[in-house]
Amino acid sequence: MAEILPLKDAFEPALALLAAGEVVAVPTETVYGLAGDATNGEAVARIFEAKGRPRFNPLIVHVCDLDMARKIAVFDAASLKLAQRFWPGPLTLVLKLREDCGIHPLVTAGLDTVALRMPQGFARELIAALGRPLAAPSANNSGRISPTTAQAVADDLGARIRLVADGGATPVGLESTIVKAGPEGVRILRPGGVTGGEVEAALGSPVLRGGAAGIEAPGMLASHYAPDAAMRLDAGEVRPGEALLAFGPRRIAGAEGAVAMLNLSETGDLREAAANLYGHIKALDRAGVATIAVEPIPHDGLGEAIADRLGRAAAPRGR
Ligand code: TXA
Ligand code: MG
Repeated sequence: MAEILPLKDAFEPALALLAAGEVVAVPTETVYGLAGDATNGEAVARIFEAKGRPRFNPLIVHVCDLDMARKIAVFDAASLKLAQRFWPGPLTLVLKLREDCGIHPLVTAGLDTVALRMPQGFARELIAALGRPLAAPSANNSGRISPTTAQAVADDLGARIRLVADGGATPVGLESTIVKAGPEGVRILRPGGVTGGEVEAALGSPVLRGGAAGIEAPGMLASHYAPDAAMRLDAGEVRPGEALLAFGPRRIAGAEGAVAMLNLSETGDLREAAANLYGHIKALDRAGVATIAVEPIPHDGLGEAIADRLGRAAAPRGR
Protein backbone atom coordinates (compact mmCIF):
# COMPACT_ATOMS: atom_id res chain seq x y z
CA MET A 1 0.00 0.00 0.00
CA ALA A 2 1.25 3.50 -0.82
CA GLU A 3 2.68 5.57 2.02
CA ILE A 4 1.08 9.02 2.42
CA LEU A 5 3.58 11.57 3.72
CA PRO A 6 3.27 15.32 4.38
CA LEU A 7 5.22 17.43 1.89
CA LYS A 8 8.21 18.15 4.13
CA ASP A 9 8.76 14.44 4.78
CA ALA A 10 7.91 13.41 1.22
CA PHE A 11 10.44 15.53 -0.64
CA GLU A 12 13.60 13.44 -0.20
CA PRO A 13 11.98 10.01 -0.66
CA ALA A 14 10.08 11.32 -3.70
CA LEU A 15 13.29 12.62 -5.20
CA ALA A 16 15.06 9.29 -4.60
CA LEU A 17 12.19 7.29 -6.14
CA LEU A 18 12.05 9.56 -9.21
CA ALA A 19 15.83 9.38 -9.67
CA ALA A 20 15.51 5.57 -9.58
CA GLY A 21 12.88 5.59 -12.34
CA GLU A 22 9.93 4.95 -10.02
CA VAL A 23 6.63 6.87 -10.00
CA VAL A 24 5.33 9.12 -7.20
CA ALA A 25 1.97 10.86 -6.72
CA VAL A 26 2.43 14.59 -6.12
CA PRO A 27 0.07 17.51 -5.58
CA THR A 28 -0.12 20.32 -8.12
CA GLU A 29 -2.40 23.37 -7.94
CA THR A 30 -4.89 21.62 -10.26
CA VAL A 31 -5.14 17.92 -9.29
CA TYR A 32 -2.71 15.26 -8.01
CA GLY A 33 -0.36 13.95 -10.70
CA LEU A 34 1.32 10.56 -11.06
CA ALA A 35 4.87 11.69 -11.82
CA GLY A 36 7.80 9.95 -13.43
CA ASP A 37 11.05 11.05 -15.13
CA ALA A 38 9.96 12.07 -18.65
CA THR A 39 13.35 11.11 -20.07
CA ASN A 40 13.22 7.55 -18.70
CA GLY A 41 11.16 5.10 -20.77
CA GLU A 42 10.73 2.63 -17.93
CA ALA A 43 9.46 5.33 -15.59
CA VAL A 44 6.99 6.46 -18.25
CA ALA A 45 5.85 2.89 -18.89
CA ARG A 46 5.22 2.55 -15.13
CA ILE A 47 2.89 5.58 -15.27
CA PHE A 48 0.78 4.00 -18.03
CA GLU A 49 0.79 0.69 -16.19
CA ALA A 50 -0.29 2.14 -12.84
CA LYS A 51 -3.12 4.11 -14.49
CA GLY A 52 -4.22 1.38 -16.90
CA ARG A 53 -4.06 4.11 -19.53
CA PRO A 54 -4.39 3.55 -23.29
CA ARG A 55 -0.92 3.95 -24.73
CA PHE A 56 -2.02 6.29 -27.51
CA ASN A 57 -2.92 9.00 -25.04
CA PRO A 58 0.09 11.33 -24.60
CA LEU A 59 1.16 12.74 -21.21
CA ILE A 60 1.81 16.31 -20.06
CA VAL A 61 5.48 17.13 -19.38
CA HIS A 62 6.04 19.33 -16.32
CA VAL A 63 8.98 21.74 -16.15
CA CYS A 64 10.42 24.00 -13.43
CA ASP A 65 11.37 27.01 -15.56
CA LEU A 66 11.24 28.48 -19.04
CA ASP A 67 14.80 27.39 -19.76
CA MET A 68 13.89 23.74 -19.29
CA ALA A 69 10.76 24.26 -21.40
CA ARG A 70 12.71 25.82 -24.28
CA LYS A 71 15.12 22.90 -24.38
CA ILE A 72 12.16 20.61 -24.97
CA ALA A 73 9.96 22.61 -27.33
CA VAL A 74 9.88 25.51 -29.77
CA PHE A 75 7.84 28.50 -28.57
CA ASP A 76 5.84 30.62 -31.00
CA ALA A 77 5.10 34.22 -29.96
CA ALA A 78 1.56 33.58 -28.68
CA SER A 79 2.59 30.56 -26.59
CA LEU A 80 5.49 32.50 -25.09
CA LYS A 81 3.14 35.29 -24.09
CA LEU A 82 0.81 32.79 -22.40
CA ALA A 83 3.70 31.08 -20.59
CA GLN A 84 4.91 34.43 -19.28
CA ARG A 85 1.43 35.37 -18.13
CA PHE A 86 0.23 32.08 -16.59
CA TRP A 87 3.28 30.02 -15.56
CA PRO A 88 3.67 28.63 -13.01
CA GLY A 89 -0.04 27.81 -13.12
CA PRO A 90 -2.92 25.78 -14.54
CA LEU A 91 -2.09 26.23 -18.24
CA THR A 92 -0.66 23.59 -20.60
CA LEU A 93 0.84 24.55 -23.96
CA VAL A 94 1.01 22.13 -26.90
CA LEU A 95 4.22 22.99 -28.76
CA LYS A 96 6.52 21.65 -31.44
CA LEU A 97 8.84 19.04 -29.91
CA ARG A 98 12.59 19.56 -30.40
CA GLU A 99 14.58 16.66 -31.75
CA ASP A 100 17.09 15.13 -29.33
CA CYS A 101 15.45 16.90 -26.37
CA GLY A 102 15.56 13.70 -24.37
CA ILE A 103 11.81 13.32 -23.82
CA HIS A 104 11.01 9.63 -24.19
CA PRO A 105 8.77 8.96 -27.23
CA LEU A 106 6.31 7.02 -25.06
CA VAL A 107 5.43 10.36 -23.39
CA THR A 108 4.26 11.99 -26.61
CA ALA A 109 2.80 8.79 -28.09
CA GLY A 110 4.92 9.41 -31.15
CA LEU A 111 3.46 12.87 -31.90
CA ASP A 112 5.76 15.67 -33.08
CA THR A 113 4.24 17.96 -30.46
CA VAL A 114 4.53 17.96 -26.68
CA ALA A 115 2.21 19.28 -23.96
CA LEU A 116 4.19 21.40 -21.46
CA ARG A 117 3.19 22.88 -18.12
CA MET A 118 4.98 24.60 -15.25
CA PRO A 119 3.18 23.71 -12.01
CA GLN A 120 3.28 25.66 -8.75
CA GLY A 121 4.85 24.61 -5.46
CA PHE A 122 6.03 21.14 -4.45
CA ALA A 123 5.98 19.60 -7.94
CA ARG A 124 8.02 22.45 -9.35
CA GLU A 125 10.58 22.25 -6.53
CA LEU A 126 10.89 18.52 -7.12
CA ILE A 127 11.57 19.03 -10.83
CA ALA A 128 14.20 21.66 -10.06
CA ALA A 129 15.93 19.32 -7.58
CA LEU A 130 15.79 16.37 -9.99
CA GLY A 131 17.00 18.55 -12.86
CA ARG A 132 14.77 16.69 -15.28
CA PRO A 133 11.19 17.19 -16.51
CA LEU A 134 8.41 15.03 -15.07
CA ALA A 135 5.68 13.38 -17.09
CA ALA A 136 2.53 13.44 -14.97
CA PRO A 137 -1.04 12.62 -15.87
CA SER A 138 -3.72 12.92 -13.21
CA ALA A 139 -3.14 10.27 -10.52
CA ASN A 140 -6.28 8.21 -11.09
CA ASN A 141 -7.26 5.03 -12.85
CA SER A 142 -7.71 5.86 -16.53
CA GLY A 143 -11.22 7.15 -17.20
CA ARG A 144 -12.02 7.83 -13.54
CA ILE A 145 -12.35 11.11 -11.66
CA SER A 146 -9.11 13.03 -11.09
CA PRO A 147 -7.95 13.11 -7.45
CA THR A 148 -7.93 16.37 -5.50
CA THR A 149 -6.72 14.86 -2.20
CA ALA A 150 -3.94 12.43 -1.24
CA GLN A 151 -6.54 10.01 0.13
CA ALA A 152 -8.36 9.97 -3.22
CA VAL A 153 -5.07 8.98 -4.91
CA ALA A 154 -4.46 6.23 -2.36
CA ASP A 155 -8.04 4.91 -2.75
CA ASP A 156 -7.58 4.66 -6.51
CA LEU A 157 -3.91 3.73 -7.07
CA GLY A 158 -2.67 2.88 -3.56
CA ALA A 159 -1.99 -0.77 -4.32
CA ARG A 160 0.17 0.07 -7.33
CA ILE A 161 2.38 2.95 -6.16
CA ARG A 162 4.79 3.47 -3.25
CA LEU A 163 4.36 7.11 -2.23
CA VAL A 164 1.76 9.87 -2.20
CA ALA A 165 3.04 13.33 -1.20
CA ASP A 166 0.19 14.93 0.75
CA GLY A 167 -0.26 18.63 0.08
CA GLY A 168 -3.89 18.74 1.21
CA ALA A 169 -6.79 19.56 -1.12
CA THR A 170 -5.63 21.02 -4.43
CA PRO A 171 -6.74 24.68 -4.72
CA VAL A 172 -7.99 24.75 -8.34
CA GLY A 173 -9.59 21.30 -8.35
CA LEU A 174 -9.83 20.96 -12.15
CA GLU A 175 -7.09 20.03 -14.61
CA SER A 176 -5.11 22.66 -16.50
CA THR A 177 -6.42 24.42 -19.58
CA ILE A 178 -4.73 22.96 -22.69
CA VAL A 179 -4.08 25.38 -25.55
CA LYS A 180 -2.38 25.06 -28.90
CA ALA A 181 -1.33 27.91 -31.16
CA GLY A 182 -1.55 27.30 -34.90
CA PRO A 183 -1.79 29.21 -38.16
CA GLU A 184 -5.54 29.76 -37.63
CA GLY A 185 -5.08 31.10 -34.09
CA VAL A 186 -4.90 29.86 -30.52
CA ARG A 187 -7.24 26.96 -29.78
CA ILE A 188 -8.43 25.72 -26.39
CA LEU A 189 -8.24 21.91 -26.63
CA ARG A 190 -9.43 21.36 -23.06
CA PRO A 191 -11.03 24.02 -20.85
CA GLY A 192 -9.56 24.11 -17.35
CA GLY A 193 -8.22 26.19 -14.48
CA VAL A 194 -7.40 29.24 -16.62
CA THR A 195 -10.61 30.51 -18.22
CA GLY A 196 -11.07 31.16 -21.94
CA GLY A 197 -11.65 34.81 -21.08
CA GLU A 198 -8.31 35.03 -19.25
CA VAL A 199 -6.48 33.52 -22.24
CA GLU A 200 -8.19 35.98 -24.57
CA ALA A 201 -7.33 38.91 -22.32
CA ALA A 202 -3.66 37.85 -22.24
CA LEU A 203 -3.53 37.49 -26.04
CA GLY A 204 -5.67 40.49 -26.82
CA SER A 205 -7.57 38.40 -29.37
CA PRO A 206 -10.30 35.75 -29.43
CA VAL A 207 -9.50 32.04 -29.07
CA LEU A 208 -10.88 29.06 -30.96
CA ARG A 209 -12.61 26.35 -28.98
CA GLY A 210 -12.94 22.60 -29.17
CA GLY A 211 -10.51 19.98 -30.40
CA ALA A 212 -9.72 19.71 -34.08
CA ALA A 213 -9.56 16.13 -35.34
CA GLY A 214 -8.68 12.95 -33.47
CA ILE A 215 -6.03 12.93 -30.78
CA GLU A 216 -6.07 16.71 -30.47
CA ALA A 217 -9.23 16.43 -28.46
CA PRO A 218 -7.16 14.99 -25.62
CA GLY A 219 -7.91 12.38 -22.91
CA MET A 220 -11.21 13.35 -24.09
CA LEU A 221 -12.60 9.96 -24.70
CA ALA A 222 -16.36 10.49 -24.59
CA SER A 223 -16.78 8.88 -21.19
CA HIS A 224 -14.13 10.27 -18.87
CA TYR A 225 -14.21 11.29 -15.23
CA ALA A 226 -16.82 8.58 -14.73
CA PRO A 227 -18.47 7.90 -11.37
CA ASP A 228 -20.40 4.62 -10.90
CA ALA A 229 -23.71 6.47 -10.74
CA ALA A 230 -25.31 7.94 -13.85
CA MET A 231 -25.38 11.75 -13.88
CA ARG A 232 -28.46 13.73 -14.94
CA LEU A 233 -27.38 17.28 -15.83
CA ASP A 234 -29.40 20.52 -15.70
CA ALA A 235 -31.97 18.76 -13.56
CA GLY A 236 -35.23 20.67 -12.99
CA GLU A 237 -36.26 18.37 -10.12
CA VAL A 238 -34.94 15.55 -7.95
CA ARG A 239 -36.58 12.20 -8.73
CA PRO A 240 -37.15 9.44 -6.17
CA GLY A 241 -33.94 7.62 -5.21
CA GLU A 242 -31.59 10.24 -6.66
CA ALA A 243 -28.74 12.08 -4.97
CA LEU A 244 -28.34 15.81 -5.65
CA LEU A 245 -25.29 17.80 -6.65
CA ALA A 246 -26.45 21.33 -5.88
CA PHE A 247 -25.13 24.74 -6.84
CA GLY A 248 -25.97 28.12 -5.34
CA PRO A 249 -28.41 29.27 -2.67
CA ARG A 250 -31.71 28.03 -4.24
CA ARG A 251 -32.81 24.37 -4.51
CA ILE A 252 -34.73 22.65 -7.33
CA ALA A 253 -38.02 20.88 -6.63
CA GLY A 254 -37.81 17.69 -4.60
CA ALA A 255 -34.38 18.54 -3.16
CA GLU A 256 -35.56 17.71 0.37
CA GLY A 257 -36.21 14.13 -0.81
CA ALA A 258 -32.68 13.57 -2.20
CA VAL A 259 -30.93 10.46 -0.81
CA ALA A 260 -27.83 12.62 -0.30
CA MET A 261 -27.01 16.20 -1.20
CA LEU A 262 -23.82 18.24 -1.49
CA ASN A 263 -23.56 21.85 -2.62
CA LEU A 264 -20.65 22.85 -4.90
CA SER A 265 -20.94 26.43 -3.64
CA GLU A 266 -23.70 27.82 -1.41
CA THR A 267 -22.97 31.32 -2.66
CA GLY A 268 -22.79 30.33 -6.35
CA ASP A 269 -19.03 30.94 -6.64
CA LEU A 270 -17.60 29.06 -9.67
CA ARG A 271 -14.05 28.94 -8.28
CA GLU A 272 -15.29 27.26 -5.12
CA ALA A 273 -17.47 24.94 -7.24
CA ALA A 274 -14.48 23.89 -9.38
CA ALA A 275 -12.42 23.12 -6.28
CA ASN A 276 -15.25 20.98 -4.85
CA LEU A 277 -16.40 19.28 -8.07
CA TYR A 278 -14.51 15.96 -8.09
CA GLY A 279 -14.62 15.47 -4.31
CA HIS A 280 -18.38 16.02 -4.19
CA ILE A 281 -19.05 13.70 -7.16
CA LYS A 282 -17.02 10.97 -5.45
CA ALA A 283 -18.74 11.49 -2.12
CA LEU A 284 -22.22 11.33 -3.68
CA ASP A 285 -21.18 8.27 -5.67
CA ARG A 286 -20.40 6.55 -2.37
CA ALA A 287 -24.07 6.91 -1.38
CA GLY A 288 -24.64 4.05 -3.84
CA VAL A 289 -27.47 5.73 -5.79
CA ALA A 290 -28.22 4.85 -9.43
CA THR A 291 -28.36 8.52 -10.47
CA ILE A 292 -26.98 11.85 -9.33
CA ALA A 293 -29.12 14.82 -10.39
CA VAL A 294 -27.08 17.96 -11.04
CA GLU A 295 -28.55 21.47 -10.72
CA PRO A 296 -27.99 23.94 -13.57
CA ILE A 297 -24.59 25.67 -13.38
CA PRO A 298 -23.70 28.78 -15.41
CA HIS A 299 -21.28 28.16 -18.30
CA ASP A 300 -19.29 31.40 -18.10
CA GLY A 301 -15.73 31.69 -16.73
CA LEU A 302 -14.70 28.49 -14.91
CA GLY A 303 -18.23 27.22 -15.62
CA GLU A 304 -17.00 26.23 -19.08
CA ALA A 305 -14.51 23.72 -17.63
CA ILE A 306 -17.05 22.53 -15.04
CA ALA A 307 -19.63 21.92 -17.80
CA ASP A 308 -17.00 20.06 -19.86
CA ARG A 309 -16.17 17.68 -16.98
CA LEU A 310 -19.82 17.16 -16.02
CA GLY A 311 -20.62 16.35 -19.65
CA ARG A 312 -17.93 13.66 -19.68
CA ALA A 313 -19.00 12.30 -16.31
CA ALA A 314 -22.55 12.02 -17.67
CA ALA A 315 -21.61 10.47 -21.03
CA PRO A 316 -22.75 6.89 -21.76
CA ARG A 317 -20.16 4.40 -20.54
CA GLY A 318 -18.44 1.77 -22.54
CA ARG A 319 -18.16 -0.51 -19.51
O1 TXA B 1 -3.75 19.80 -14.52
C1 TXA B 1 -3.31 18.93 -15.26
O2 TXA B 1 -3.12 19.12 -16.47
C2 TXA B 1 -2.95 17.58 -14.63
C3 TXA B 1 -1.81 17.82 -13.64
C4 TXA B 1 -1.32 16.54 -13.01
O3 TXA B 1 -0.76 18.50 -14.26
N1 TXA B 1 -2.55 16.64 -15.62
C5 TXA B 1 -3.44 16.07 -16.47
O4 TXA B 1 -2.85 15.14 -17.29
O5 TXA B 1 -4.62 16.34 -16.53
P1 TXA B 1 -3.67 14.08 -18.14
O6 TXA B 1 -2.63 13.15 -18.67
O7 TXA B 1 -4.75 13.46 -17.31
O8 TXA B 1 -4.24 14.91 -19.31
C6 TXA B 1 -3.34 15.36 -20.29
C7 TXA B 1 -4.04 15.66 -21.56
C8 TXA B 1 -4.53 14.39 -22.20
O9 TXA B 1 -5.89 14.52 -22.45
C9 TXA B 1 -3.69 14.29 -23.47
O10 TXA B 1 -4.40 13.71 -24.51
C10 TXA B 1 -3.32 15.73 -23.73
O11 TXA B 1 -3.13 16.26 -22.46
N2 TXA B 1 -2.10 15.86 -24.49
C11 TXA B 1 -0.87 15.49 -24.13
N3 TXA B 1 0.03 15.73 -25.12
C12 TXA B 1 -0.67 16.27 -26.14
C13 TXA B 1 -0.32 16.73 -27.44
N4 TXA B 1 0.92 16.67 -27.90
N5 TXA B 1 -1.31 17.25 -28.21
C14 TXA B 1 -2.57 17.33 -27.76
N6 TXA B 1 -2.96 16.89 -26.54
C15 TXA B 1 -2.03 16.37 -25.74
MG1 MG C 1 -6.65 12.68 -16.45
